[in-house]
Amino acid sequence: FVRSYDAKVVEHYEKPRNVGSFKKSDPNVGTGLVGAPACGDVMKLQIKVDDDGNIVDSCFKTFGCGSAIASSSVATEWVKGRTVDNATEIKNSHIAKELKLPPVKLHCSMLAEDAIKAAVEDIKRKRAEQAAGK
Ligand code: FES
Repeated sequence: FVRSYDAKVVEHYEKPRNVGSFKKSDPNVGTGLVGAPACGDVMKLQIKVDDDGNIVDSCFKTFGCGSAIASSSVATEWVKGRTVDNATEIKNSHIAKELKLPPVKLHCSMLAEDAIKAAVEDIKRKRAEQAAGK
């Protein structure tokens, strides 16, 4: 049967916020690239972080289903203005609730949670390397 998407998914799917890319080599950019084994969809989420660890900007590119695109759109909106540590508190359950995702689409929002975590890990690794003078 055809499952109808919630209006918010359609909204974020048709007008995704923050689609794009930052330069991966930028020392202030963290990049999270994750894939969903279940379906093969891929999500790239990037954050731009100031010296105090605040996320000042975020963007994404997602090759995946409508729910994955909507989830990444929501994720980029929600991480902005948070500290990197605070950003990892965004859980897929929050995103799924916001978008009213059905159970079969939960892994799509999981991709967004994983992508945020991976982007935060990446910027932390970069900052640690900078601090170590590499
Ligand atoms: Fe796999 Fe949505 S169906 S990310």
